[in-house]
Amino acid sequence: MYKIVVSSIIIVSVFIFTTSFFQKYDLPKSIARGKQVYANNCMNCHMDDGNGTPDIFPPLDKADYLKKM
Ligand code: HEC
Repeated sequence: MYKIVVSSIIIVSVFIFTTSFFQKYDLPKSIARGKQVYANNCMNCHMDDGNGTPDIFPPLDKADYLKKM
């Protein structure tokens, strides 16, 4: 029983280490994907520069709401 527990912990750790090691975080690609999501889902209302439309759609750029996070 003890051997099974120890060897499964080792196998899981090695798996997590190797997958995270080979998965590089690519910021420019992530930004490009985010732009696509914004363009498809948010831009109609919040506008392409994120400034919204006064009194209708709030600006996302410098929004108080987002700064709290
Ligand atoms: C149909 C138009 C519309 C679309 C599309 C839209 N929004 Fe909004 N959004 C609004 C309106 C209207 C408000 C204000 C709601 C309120 O104050 O109750 C708002 C508020 C927000 C707020 C809060 C801003 C603040 O300062 O309070 C955030 C953040 C936000 N939207 C993000 C997004 C994101 C991200 C997307 C795309 C995934 C998106 N919105 C798509 C209309 C839209």
